[in-house]
Amino acid sequence: MDAVKLGIAGLGRGFMLSLPALRAHPAIRLAGAYDIRSDARARFATEFDAADHSTLDGLLADQIIDAIYVATPHELHAEQTIAALNAGKHVLVEKPMATSVAECAAMARCATSNGRVLIVGPSHGFDEQIIRAAQLVASGEYGPVRLVTTFNFTDFMYRPRRPEELDDARGGGVIYSQAAHQIDVVRRIIGQDVTGIRAVTGNWDTSRPSDGAYAALITFAGGAAASLTYSGYGHYDSDELVGWIGELGQVKDSARYGDARRKLASLSREDEMAAKLARTYGMDSELPNRPPHNEHFGFLLVSCERADFKVLPNSIEVFGDEVRETIAIAPPTIPRTAVVEEFASAIAGEKPPVHDGNWGLTTTACCAALAQSSQTGTVIDPRTMIQEQSES
Ligand SMILES: NC(=O)c1ccc[n+]([C@@H]2O[C@H](COP(=O)([O-])OP(=O)(O)OC[C@H]3O[C@@H](n4cnc5c(N)ncnc54)[C@H](O)[C@@H]3O)[C@@H](O)[C@H]2O)c1
Repeated sequence: MDAVKLGIAGLGRGFMLSLPALRAHPAIRLAGAYDIRSDARARFATEFDAADHSTLDGLLADQIIDAIYVATPHELHAEQTIAALNAGKHVLVEKPMATSVAECAAMARCATSNGRVLIVGPSHGFDEQIIRAAQLVASGEYGPVRLVTTFNFTDFMYRPRRPEELDDARGGGVIYSQAAHQIDVVRRIIGQDVTGIRAVTGNWDTSRPSDGAYAALITFAGGAAASLTYSGYGHYDSDELVGWIGELGQVKDSARYGDARRKLASLSREDEMAAKLARTYGMDSELPNRPPHNEHFGFLLVSCERADFKVLPNSIEVFGDEVRETIAIAPPTIPRTAVVEEFASAIAGEKPPVHDGNWGLTTTACCAALAQSSQTGTVIDPRTMIQEQSES
């Protein structure tokens, strides 16, 4: 079968993280790109012998292109995805799918009405150890799943950021960017509908005034619950609990305490924008092609009635009634291959996707419910939020 000719909208950091998998996958050919940065587009065109489009309309009118990877800032996802679907293209859209339930509902409907594939990712719900943990739960061997405990303490708030990434009104802070990963992980493992979320969010640093932390309790239709904690305030680093392996599978140096905060403190706002730009395509910011470990999203313990599973980047430790055993998880061939594989095989009609538009809609509704619960002090059911959209 011919390779899917993929056009890229947004040659930034998110694209860079997916690039090794996209470049290597036999079912994908990088065929065109659109970005507001003409130098990045020109470089892409040369590197991949691809088309350089100065407008999204131009990219979407290109008959060679079968599919679009939308990797622009959050607030552009809905409009660009809908335009691409209406132009007959399949779409892989970065997480978060968008920053409102209404937008995600419209995107999911648009994919269905055009008969096109829509995948939301990559998120850490695609990580190999998460898929294996989900399989262990689904096997029923250890009894029903009852509880998932997960937390991630990072320096997210002190990495170089665009202004909108620190503006809650535009989907900034950690709720849409980071809870989207954690919610995907627990939904994938538990495999039941979310019935309610009670959460408290935290906005603790007036110099980075958006939500940088949260604690949430999520209930599921089959009776399971998940506790999710996240802090991006750069103090404790929970990678300590997974063998000093970083989110991208890299080896971390535990002695470099406070690096992100210290580097940021020496930068003006202009320097910070330049540092953010330096991590995009075309700026010579190469990523290690094959980190030694699988990617991950923090500490994760899954409790079934007859065993707890500690899910680590390279193994799952099973603490059963009588025995404790370790299941090895193979290191990655190329990170983020799973999302490319899911996209390509859905387009080829080989396998129905897990992370389709409706999956992404539910995850975004959970993010919105998390934020709303903190504001109202009540339990919010994301299904009600989705229902309201389908009625409006
Ligand atoms: N899945 C992940 O692990 C992951 C990691 C990083 C980013 N992301 C996602 O990727 C998206 C982009 O974030 P980022 O960190 O890559 O940002 P970024 O600033 O590094 O990249 C954004 C890119 O979009 C381009 N751009 C901006 N406005 C545009 C427009 N109007 N039209 C076309 N191009 C435009 C910029 O020039 C830049 O190349 C976000 O939604 C983010 O959540 C996901």
